Amino acid sequence: MIGTANEKGENNLAIFSSVVHLGSKPPLIGFILRPYSDVRRHTWENIEANGVYTINHVHQSNIEQAHYTSAKFEADESEFSHCHFTPEYIYGFKAPFVLESKIKIGLSFHSAIPIPANNTTLVIGKIEHLIVPDEVVQENGQINLAEAGGTGISGLNCYYDLSYKEEFPYARKSELPEFL
Ligand SMILES: Cc1cc2nc3c(=O)[nH]c(=O)nc-3n(C[C@H](O)[C@H](O)[C@H](O)COP(=O)(O)O)c2cc1C
Repeated sequence: MIGTANEKGENNLAIFSSVVHLGSKPPLIGFILRPYSDVRRHTWENIEANGVYTINHVHQSNIEQAHYTSAKFEADESEFSHCHFTPEYIYGFKAPFVLESKIKIGLSFHSAIPIPANNTTLVIGKIEHLIVPDEVVQENGQINLAEAGGTGISGLNCYYDLSYKEEFPYARKSELPEFL
């Protein structure tokens, strides 16, 4: 879910699934924004106004509430209150995080790349804050999304549990497993 605030400080929250890691140096994340000429996109308007936003993982216990943040609320109607999420602020950062989410990212707007093929936009942000509870960080520094109660999404209405399976080393041609 992407959390934003407008110039009056009114907050907004909406679920987005087309979110993609774009690299680590600098740490960039992109998301795809639907066409906004005919429909108002509060998330985008607020990012343009304030230059900051948050990405908050959906916790298993909040799936249904998270789904309904996609409803077309008016600009002065907060999805936080309508969908029963709690806005959480950190000093000096204008965009609200979601208290109920375990993994949260604060970003500053970097750039927006129009995609003429279907009038969508790739919105790129730089990670400024990363909030992760200690108990879901493994010894090797990786985050265990299953431990964090994370949610997977397929399409626009199906939600899944995440379960940890296995991990593998960097894939080198010289070190292929025997069965290959
Ligand atoms: C599961 C799910 C995933 C969605 N993913 C996206 C997305 O990646 N990009 C997008 O523009 N809208 C997406 N939407 C639609 C937005 O949530 C919806 O347009 C919302 O009203 C936007 O709110 P806003 O006007 O406050 O920005 C998704 C909706 C659902 C239910």
